[in-house]
Amino acid sequence: MAFIELNGVTKRFGAVTAVDRLTLGIAQGECLAMLGPSGCGKTTTLRMVAGFEDLDDGEIRVGERVLSAKAKNFYVPPEHRNFGMVFQAFAVWPHLSVFENVAFPLRIRKLPKAEILARTEEALRHTNLLSVAAGSPNDLSGGGKQRVALARALAIRPDVMLLDEPLSSLDPHFREEMRFEIKDLQRKFGFSILYVTHDQSEAMALSDRILVMRDGVVQQIGTPIDVYRAPANRFVFEFIGLSSFLPVGLTAEGMVVAGQHQPWPDGPPPPELIAAGKAVLAARPSEIRFTSEGGLRGAVARKAYLGEIIDYRVDVGGSEMRVQRPRRDPGPAVGDPCGLLIASPRWYPA
Ligand SMILES: Nc1ncnc2c1ncn2[C@@H]1O[C@H](COP(=O)(O)OP(=O)(O)OP(=O)(O)O)[C@@H](O)[C@H]1O
Ligand SMILES: [Mg+2]
Repeated sequence: MAFIELNGVTKRFGAVTAVDRLTLGIAQGECLAMLGPSGCGKTTTLRMVAGFEDLDDGEIRVGERVLSAKAKNFYVPPEHRNFGMVFQAFAVWPHLSVFENVAFPLRIRKLPKAEILARTEEALRHTNLLSVAAGSPNDLSGGGKQRVALARALAIRPDVMLLDEPLSSLDPHFREEMRFEIKDLQRKFGFSILYVTHDQSEAMALSDRILVMRDGVVQQIGTPIDVYRAPANRFVFEFIGLSSFLPVGLTAEGMVVAGQHQPWPDGPPPPELIAAGKAVLAARPSEIRFTSEGGLRGAVARKAYLGEIIDYRVDVGGSEMRVQRPRRDPGPAVGDPCGLLIASPRWYPA
């Protein structure tokens, strides 16, 4: 059984449906990443789980315990949900020491002094902050401040960590390091994570499952590999990983590109698309190879060296296809005619 359950959760702001009938279960100890473009409803979802936002419809529960239920107009306030939260902005209190920042939620909960001391020290130790505990968080870097926020969330020994782009204000090197630290903490403490990001590599690296959202509507929920290999629709295909698209005409025998008849690359599209007579062929740039004879004919328009990879833009009948090959693969030069062989293409309605 899922540990956290959202059932038909809906939130509207005026005419905007920020979150539309979201149904989702997160297992104990699972990390679920919510991924989607700006404004798709990620923060709103998190705020509803945290209890900062009421629901227009649906229900949220943890285990057997109902936290929010629109039908009964029932809401457990945020301070009575055992959730740790870390947001993008460095939410530390500058007038309190690092220690007091972390101890604060425990003082609010009126825990015994000895318990507050023990838990605060434990959280500081696990986030490598013991040596700066007496200092001000203002003397710490952005990463240090986020560690304080993380320690504060840890100290309450949360069932669930709600993380809203916690690393996006950090520089890239530090971001990767913090990812590992968050994963380590999760392993040690066993909490579930609902992790909001619009950085797909962060989602891939951290999570057991990814939820892709668009305009408040779930597009797909699956493991990182599933979402990458078997995207539910064109939006997910384009949002996760790199993509190349080619609008094509379709006949019963093959496809038509810029008036030229071509055989199917790696098998035909579904019959309903053939019946429609046109489609968009989609491929990952890394799954396209060059061939001197045959293939989908085009010419290299641009070529860029990206370290280990060479990134090509190939003009195919007026459309640009992106192709990526390993640096060691000698490919065509700019202006050269070439053929493209597409492995496992996907087809979407035009
Ligand atoms: N308090 C509010 N009042 C009115 N509209 C709001 C409010 N909060 C969010 N919205 C709207 O709800 C939609 C979802 O917003 P939300 O902040 O959840 O998106 P997001 O996915 O977190 O985006 P971002 O990646 O930019 O943080 C947007 O259209 C937003 O403008
Ligand atoms: Mg947001």
